[in-house]
Amino acid sequence: MNRTYIPLSQRPHTLHRLSLAPMVDKSDRDWRWIMRRITRHTLLYTEMITAPAVIRGDRKKLLGFDDSEKPLVLQLGWDEPGDLAEACRIAEDFGYDEINLNCGCPSDKVQQHDFGACLMARPSHVAELVESMASATSLPITVKNRIGIRSRKNGLSLETYEHLHQFVGTVAEAGCRKFTIHARIAILEGLSPRENRDVPPLRPEDVYRLKADFPELFIEINGGYRTRSDIDAALVQADAVMLGRLALDDPWILSLADRLWFAETSPAPTRREVLEASIPYMIRRAEQGASRGLLIQPLMNLFAGQKGAKAWKRAMTELHGAGSEGFTGALWAAVDLLDDELLDRRSE
Ligand SMILES: Cc1cc2nc3c(=O)[nH]c(=O)nc-3n(C[C@H](O)[C@H](O)[C@H](O)COP(=O)(O)O)c2cc1C
Repeated sequence: MNRTYIPLSQRPHTLHRLSLAPMVDKSDRDWRWIMRRITRHTLLYTEMITAPAVIRGDRKKLLGFDDSEKPLVLQLGWDEPGDLAEACRIAEDFGYDEINLNCGCPSDKVQQHDFGACLMARPSHVAELVESMASATSLPITVKNRIGIRSRKNGLSLETYEHLHQFVGTVAEAGCRKFTIHARIAILEGLSPRENRDVPPLRPEDVYRLKADFPELFIEINGGYRTRSDIDAALVQADAVMLGRLALDDPWILSLADRLWFAETSPAPTRREVLEASIPYMIRRAEQGASRGLLIQPLMNLFAGQKGAKAWKRAMTELHGAGSEGFTGALWAAVDLLDDELLDRRSE
């Protein structure tokens, strides 16, 4: 396909106030489809997919999605410019809105291949990766990184604001205009990925300072957001907030997102509306071979904090064992456990 080359710095990236984080084993296409029934405008991300998986794997399975999930960002992980370019070339035809490079994952497997958070030690290399990706696609290329990294094994301590500034400055010179920053460092050994999301303290002030130093960049902050007032406070100093675990633990908080952060004027959805759309979808996907256990995950916490939440969760858990015949009936039976008032209530 012949494409007119537009410099990366001039490609319009998605504008948004809120996004849902890339999360391996969570933000798959079915989770995103269901989240999209709760919020129409929040930017969604895929799980991280490695460039070699895109090149050599089952592309339809790895990259396929439903158009209604858009706006949607594909997150790639890898450290080799040629492979990343090839993955971007393949992905563009699937219709993604943006491609994001993971510079924040600290898992051992990712470290073995020297990508993810390790890339924060190599700003010029990341600039090269971004340029190579941009040369292969007309989509905007963005980066998700930590505020720094520490590695006792290598005696590496890149934890200061100055290093973050240098990293972002160098990658921005390659044309990248949008950064999502998880506001804690990654510790490259001794902590599991899970601990690396909790143990290093949050330093949001570094992200705000970065926005002040690079006002022309779109700076999205991430890490530890749990309430509407925290999100509102962050949006005073950053362009957007990315939510991860909150969307897993209490997805209903997103039912107000469109009205609060995207100037949507139509009413927020009810849980009944979300379920009436999602259940037929889940049944269809189960018939196509999607795992029933995974399909019910996005709905597990739909009633978090509400009366009936326990019974709902129990019913969802029991669905793991329901055969394909029982699945449909059991899903609707679980809905019948809930009060009409709760099912029809709109968030305000
Ligand atoms: C289960 C899980 C999987 C994750 N997978 C990814 C991933 O694929 N790519 C990525 O950049 N970050 C990943 N993360 C990190 C999140 O994107 C986010 O940066 C982190 O959870 C902090 O945000 P939070 O405090 O709002 O959850 C993952 C987090 C979780 C909980």
